[in-house]
Amino acid sequence: MNANRYYSVIKNHQLPQVSIIGAGAIGQLIYQQLSSSKTQVNFIGRTEKSQQQAVTYTNLAQQQTTCTAMIVGRNDWSLQLVNTKLLIVCVKAYQVVAALKPIIKLLNHDCHILLLHNGMGPHLEVNNMLNGQGLSLGTTSQGALKKSTWHTQQTGQGVTQLGHFTGPLMSETIKSSLLSNIPQSQWFEDILPMLWQKLAINVAINPMTAIHDCRNGELAAAQYRNTITAAVTELAQVAAAESIVLDLEGLLTRVYQVIELTAANYSSMHQDVHHQRKTEIESINGFVVQMASRHALRAEINQQLLASITTLEQGYLSNA
Ligand code: PAF
Repeated sequence: MNANRYYSVIKNHQLPQVSIIGAGAIGQLIYQQLSSSKTQVNFIGRTEKSQQQAVTYTNLAQQQTTCTAMIVGRNDWSLQLVNTKLLIVCVKAYQVVAALKPIIKLLNHDCHILLLHNGMGPHLEVNNMLNGQGLSLGTTSQGALKKSTWHTQQTGQGVTQLGHFTGPLMSETIKSSLLSNIPQSQWFEDILPMLWQKLAINVAINPMTAIHDCRNGELAAAQYRNTITAAVTELAQVAAAESIVLDLEGLLTRVYQVIELTAANYSSMHQDVHHQRKTEIESINGFVVQMASRHALRAEINQQLLASITTLEQGYLSNA
């Protein structure tokens, strides 16, 4: 799209501008939820030119809708990003830093960044990259899958937990737009304990389902109990060293609830291994191991789970 025309399009809008990096299933789901509101939402694309893209969404009631999304090309990044009030980063944890590097310098100081991915870790690096912007973090258990590149289907309801991490606060207008448009979303003054709690579910379920090639429900079997308990116990110890106090019994109860509630599903890590994709292990068990070493703690079981998945991954990624 011609830059002048593009500029006049965005200038005419007085609505808060939200840009999304990452058009995966969650990125497209959040796009759908926000674009129905008084917010102007677009995707930050990687092609040179901006383009309009038909985006299809199938909701839980199997109703299908198609709308037109603006994919902002590299030629228009600076025009768009200088007006962006919220940048939502929905790429995988291991892609966050590289995705933000060329973009962060184009953001205004009053832009807020929200990281929304599985696992933990990138926030520590992004914190050092900020140029006056505020940073919030979030996690979602909403289920969505991509039927094709620009068609996403919602597969399950779930809570979305959001909260401030560092720097200037998110504006109340943007915050209320997120909370009123993302179903079952909640704001937490202290988001880190929520992220550690979600991490406890992932450190137990994700690597175990991938290693044992099973659905989530099979992890209820007694043979897996010791490993699950040890992995979650280590996580709680590391979190405590980081001054995040978690209730171990509560964490284990929640892990087994999720195993039961999602019994028929294959975890995201199982799917990554099955499709021979890079997994999120570094930001799940890898994060526990990394934080444990900061406090001279041993996280042996998490280390073993990390090593097993890394070996599996290397087996297929080195042949790719
Ligand atoms: O990563 C996943 O697959 C999910 O976070 C969870 C909760 C483990 C369910 O499959």
